[in-house]
Amino acid sequence: MAANNARHVRLRSAEDLADPRLTPYTTLTDAALRRRVDSEHGVFLAESSQVVRRALAAGHTPRSFLLGDRYRESFADVLAAHPQVPVFTGPDEVLTTLTGFHLHRGALAAMDRPAPRPVADVLAGARRVLVVEDMVDHTNLGAVVRTAVALGWDAMLLTPQAADPLYRRAIRVSMGTVFRLPWARLDGGVAASVPSLREAGFTVAALEVTDRALGLDSPELEPIRAADRLALVLGQEGPGVRPETLALTDADVVIPMPAGVDSLNVAAAAAVALWELRAR
Ligand SMILES: C[S@@+](CC[C@H](N)C(=O)[O-])C[C@H]1O[C@@H](n2cnc3c(N)ncnc32)[C@H](O)[C@@H]1O
Repeated sequence: MAANNARHVRLRSAEDLADPRLTPYTTLTDAALRRRVDSEHGVFLAESSQVVRRALAAGHTPRSFLLGDRYRESFADVLAAHPQVPVFTGPDEVLTTLTGFHLHRGALAAMDRPAPRPVADVLAGARRVLVVEDMVDHTNLGAVVRTAVALGWDAMLLTPQAADPLYRRAIRVSMGTVFRLPWARLDGGVAASVPSLREAGFTVAALEVTDRALGLDSPELEPIRAADRLALVLGQEGPGVRPETLALTDADVVIPMPAGVDSLNVAAAAAVALWELRAR
């Protein structure tokens, strides 16, 4: 078995995988198990060399790197910049045994999970805030984050039930843009937060298909578009925005769907609406 304190360990066989420093890389394909490993070990995983580089550039602290043999050279600058951080390398088949999936993007890094941020902290100075209500799919969340950052939205709030923005797949789909978006968890549901958002000067709108919703192309939407501070609630994939939230919002906004389809995928809907409702 590999020495447990070596800085660079080449993993040759399944026996080498007993190194406890490799625990953050196990059970990657099981979201529920993963949640436990991430919270117990206080880590998140950055996947692909580009995402690892973006996490480092954003100031995150690496605990270890796991690289396919053939990526070691292209990652040499990163390894040199972090001389104390353990590096595990190995052939694809050994890494697949460890992680449970084919590590086709070359690099993984286990990083210290940052402390949760208070809501007030991420709202400070923000003019456009996404409120993610119970969205469970990490791919959707990653896509929404990428859109939000690309279109200049300032912050994101998530309900306790919503997916984890620092789950490996969410980070990867966001292309590492999640490291640029201030975000915080709400203590409870969106409805309970509406009064404090309003007190902070936010107009609160729901992106949802409802009878009273204003079309995204409607002139009546102008006050929402022009709001100095806007919080936009996105609903859960199946049920949509909760009725208790809709009962409190200042307006609902719908993307008209002339072909009679029920709804758009939430990430697609966000891409359309976040552009229209951006700060100007
Ligand atoms: C797939 S939808 C939820 C299901 C939807 N409530 C229905 O009855 O078909 C998930 C979320 O995407 C957003 N969404 C999807 N299509 C939309 C549209 N045409 N206009 C506004 N929001 C939309 C909303 O935020 C919604 O809560």
